[in-house]
Amino acid sequence: MKSQVELGRKLFFDRRLAFNNTNSCAMCHIESQGLTTNQSATAIGMEGRSLSRNAPALYNVAYQTSLFHDGRESDLAQQAWAPLLSPLEMANPSIGHVVDKIRALEDYAGLFEAAFGGHQASMQTIGDALASYQRTLLSGNSRFDRWYYGKQQDALSPEEKHGFEVFMGKGSCATCHTVGEKSALFTDDNFYVTGIGYYNAIGAGPRVSKVELAPGEFIEMKHEDMKSFSAPRINDIGRFALTLDPKDRWAYKTPGLRNVELTYPYMHDGSLSTLEDVVAFYDKGGIEHDGERVLKPLGLTDKEKADLVAFLKSLTTPEDQAKHAGYR
Ligand code: HEC
Ligand code: HEC
Repeated sequence: MKSQVELGRKLFFDRRLAFNNTNSCAMCHIESQGLTTNQSATAIGMEGRSLSRNAPALYNVAYQTSLFHDGRESDLAQQAWAPLLSPLEMANPSIGHVVDKIRALEDYAGLFEAAFGGHQASMQTIGDALASYQRTLLSGNSRFDRWYYGKQQDALSPEEKHGFEVFMGKGSCATCHTVGEKSALFTDDNFYVTGIGYYNAIGAGPRVSKVELAPGEFIEMKHEDMKSFSAPRINDIGRFALTLDPKDRWAYKTPGLRNVELTYPYMHDGSLSTLEDVVAFYDKGGIEHDGERVLKPLGLTDKEKADLVAFLKSLTTPEDQAKHAGYR
């Protein structure tokens, strides 16, 4: 099993998995950037092509019952073939092309056979190896866990504890970002319309974006000025594309919030840059849209908002644990 994980890690970081040998899984899901890409709202793929969605952080992906922002895939081993074959991402012409290429690479000689009881590289074993590695990307044991589940009173500050009260109570956050009795993944694996997709679809989306130039340093850029070098956004209808159920139009998966401090920018299109922006978004009840409103304005005070952000930052896995899990 261990060697399946190691082999999966090697594949995850291997740029030769892209048709033109230039990008790997790890170049969009960057270890030191919360397993997403902090600098771009939506992912950038093969030859600089823009994707319409933000690269999700892969923490605790092992526990997810549905994958992608719209939940169109459920099997981690199958999922890997989507970026491998997508013309925007790794652009391989076929499964066979990838399998043949890996079988021919000298530094993979014998590795699949050793990890998979004699089976060579194939659609199944390549997917399984990548899945095994991603299942090790666990996030837990944060200060929140030590306080809430471990009963260590001083693990959270009074502000963070108050933020948790807001999360569970006035903010209603936990109705979707679930906190269980024995553990918490902060997601109900369900899909909701928060209004973001709708807002962008009708062309009323934000006219400025925050762009990160250096760590922690943002500038605001007008979309007008970005037109010359960024492709127009593809219209994204969310889960509706799969279910064709009108209530799923612009519905996206509830993401888990583990390590959320590290996984900016936020939402399926990366349109919110900071946790303060996210809390302000919920405080005004999301964005008005056609159809049933699941989010209602919250009327949070400045202190409640600040403490809620402080609480969210207590969900970060300590660095030594993260290293043990094999990332960062
Ligand atoms: C060009 C950037 C890019 C590359 C390369 C890339 N991904 Fe992703 N990944 C994304 C984006 C964007 C999404 C979300 C797409 C969507 O929801 O439609 C995603 C989604 C995922 C998900 C679903 C996670 C979730 O929470 O639902 C997994 C798992 C994943 N990628 C693993 C991989 C693996 C394994 C590879 C390499 C074989 C890879 N990715 C290569 C950008 C990338
Ligand atoms: C009705 C369900 C629901 C409620 C209530 C809710 N959320 Fe969310 N949350 C979602 C969904 C769905 C998304 C993803 C939206 C998207 O991708 O466009 C999300 C996204 C987020 C994100 C971005 C995470 C990321 O990785 O992009 C954060 C942070 C967050 N929510 C925090 C909160 C907080 C704090 C509250 C309470 C004030 C809250 N949520 C209430 C469903 C909900």
